[in-house]
Amino acid sequence: TAESRIEQIKRHVQSFENWPKNGIIFRDLFPVFREPKVLRVLIDELKEHITNAVKTVDVIVGIESRGFLFGPILALELNLPFVPIRKKGKLPGSVNKVTYALEYGEDTIEIQSESIKPGMNCVLIDDLLATGGTMNAAIKLISECNASVKECLVVIELVELDGRKNIPVAVHSLLQY
Ligand code: PRP
Ligand code: ADE
Repeated sequence: TAESRIEQIKRHVQSFENWPKNGIIFRDLFPVFREPKVLRVLIDELKEHITNAVKTVDVIVGIESRGFLFGPILALELNLPFVPIRKKGKLPGSVNKVTYALEYGEDTIEIQSESIKPGMNCVLIDDLLATGGTMNAAIKLISECNASVKECLVVIELVELDGRKNIPVAVHSLLQY
């Protein structure tokens, strides 16, 4: 049909006004997962972007928790390793950590030290870019492993928040709100 693949994905994003708080429009991607054909289209779009636009990639790094929905599927499709970044206190063994500011307070994310080797080329993936605080902290974490982030890949970008202005590496989004 004439409907583009991006339009098909967008039709499966459900918006919830004033959730979880007044003034927030929550963009829910789970309806995509209820339709295997649409999930296939979404994964193909992410995969084609990496194949066409990101030259050398050694590892797909996913951000807890919704980055874990796409990261491992994409990594498997590309025959690449998958590595998780988690909220503090969840990963065993030696970890590197970065603490970052939230709207109120702060949060800490961690990565297993042995999972990222110096010089590795990483693609960071998450479901959504809002203020960019999470993505920026993830970039710092990779930098502290002496590796580099080639691209930040998200399904949804909340363009009004302009999170990408604070992000020092290429950002690619499939859907913009
Ligand atoms: C959401 C989203 C991103 C982050 C984006 O995660 O999945 O990871 O917020 O926001 P930012 O650009 O302002 O940093 P959330 O903290 O809700 O955690 P969850 O994925 O575990 O639900
Ligand atoms: N994470 C941060 N802001 C969000 C939003 N508006 N919808 C879904 N996830 C989010």
